[in-house]
Amino acid sequence: MQIPSLEVKGNKVTLLSDGKPFIMLAGEAHNSSSSSLDYMKESVWPALRSLNMNTLVAAVTWELLEPTKGQFDFTIPDGLIRQAEEEGMKLVFLWFGLWKNGMSTYVPNWVKENRDTYFYMRNRYGEPVNAISPLCTAGFESDAAAFTALMSHLKDFDVNRTVLMVQVENEMGLLGDCRDFSPAAEKAYAESVPADVAEFCNVDCTWDEAFGEDAPELFMTYYYAKATQYIAAAGKAVYPIPHYVNAWLEQHPWTPGTYPVGGPIARHMDWWKQFAPDIDFLSPDIYLPDFEAVCDEYTAMGNPLGNPLFIPEARPSQDSASNVFSAIGKYGAMGFSPFAIETVGKEGAPPDLSLLGGLNIMAGAFNHYKSAQYLRQSYKLLGGMSELINEYRCTSHMTGFTRNKDQLGTLVKFSKYDFQINYMPNSAESPKGGGLIIELSDDEFLFCGLNYRVTPLPKNNDASHLEYVSIEEGSYENNQWVQGRQLNGDEFRIMFQENPSILRCRFMRCR
Ligand code: DGJ
Repeated sequence: MQIPSLEVKGNKVTLLSDGKPFIMLAGEAHNSSSSSLDYMKESVWPALRSLNMNTLVAAVTWELLEPTKGQFDFTIPDGLIRQAEEEGMKLVFLWFGLWKNGMSTYVPNWVKENRDTYFYMRNRYGEPVNAISPLCTAGFESDAAAFTALMSHLKDFDVNRTVLMVQVENEMGLLGDCRDFSPAAEKAYAESVPADVAEFCNVDCTWDEAFGEDAPELFMTYYYAKATQYIAAAGKAVYPIPHYVNAWLEQHPWTPGTYPVGGPIARHMDWWKQFAPDIDFLSPDIYLPDFEAVCDEYTAMGNPLGNPLFIPEARPSQDSASNVFSAIGKYGAMGFSPFAIETVGKEGAPPDLSLLGGLNIMAGAFNHYKSAQYLRQSYKLLGGMSELINEYRCTSHMTGFTRNKDQLGTLVKFSKYDFQINYMPNSAESPKGGGLIIELSDDEFLFCGLNYRVTPLPKNNDASHLEYVSIEEGSYENNQWVQGRQLNGDEFRIMFQENPSILRCRFMRCR
């Protein structure tokens, strides 16, 4: 079997699983779930079975992988691979190594207890912060050794190539201040910028002199990217499946340190691309309500897919069933993955709001009331037509949309027709409007999604009259169109209610 890889063709980046395009209809498990294979068996996999997912995103932690220095225990990654295979699913592994949500809570005890070697960051008052400094060479070297052991083991053990990609660290960056003030950091900060920064930015002076108010943040970005590059390069050298990093997004109150400073936020994607070239792409964790604004930022470098989009964490609220259409249709996402997926799958279970206190995430983002009901339909629909999606991804013949706050609708444009999209009024009982449209030929379109209606419009410079020829209801089963009702009479309109569904429509223009 071929190992997972990214295929780049023009502006289209495609994840290949055994040489074939693969869109990850995924979900991310809670942080601690994958630390116990029994727990996974009893409480996670059963909850996922009805969701029509094809990929689970799950943690593999340094503390369990290398409990004693130099001695590795692969029980968890091996067990996860076997379990996923039994469930017919792929995996994305999250390497919780040196940094997880800005902290170093997943390092093994032999690291935690040796603070002389593995030195922690300090804030401006000299107080320790609960995270190893990215300037601590011993820290990223030891992490890289463990990560390399994992990747080297996967190369041999994962013969069915169940693990599609690996995330290096998790939402890294310093919380609590704008930069590291440990002695090592103080020294580096006072010196001239390193030669590679001098060359990249065409400066030759200290951080403050070169970057003014932005200096602390760029300093941290540089050292996090360099440390991550060291780790990723080591892993990739032994097993070059796609490697990526994820970001805790910049958000209220916008000051560095209230979000993890130095992490791969959109504003510093250019630094990350420059100083961590073995990281294939940077991923946003989208808990913020304005989904498309974040996707825009993360795909904005160079060509539209200069940074291919994978969303390893999305809010698990019922809006995930709408947002996935925009992610895949408009942004050509390689995958989409609501967080806390096993809780989503346990319909009726209350969201764990205790999680949210310290995390700067609105409770609404975790309100997964009825999410499963809608998400499983969106995933079924998209999974059934994966070949079409792969054919049209990243072309002008496919787009998607999802309702942004208070938006009445949107206008989407194809070669011979434009479509006015009007969203249905929001209600707490059903997801916001969202959909995906494919132009199958000049006059034939596939509309998918929920809670919107469509008014086809002739192009501005087209004097012809537009008429509907036919509207078919149906679905894709294993990429074959299975026709349902032929809509006519009272139902002769393109309108989607709360259940994600598909209409195939033909129009004509006459004079
Ligand atoms: C973002 C992190 O990346 C996840 O691991 C998890 O902690 C969620 N926040 C919230 O629970």
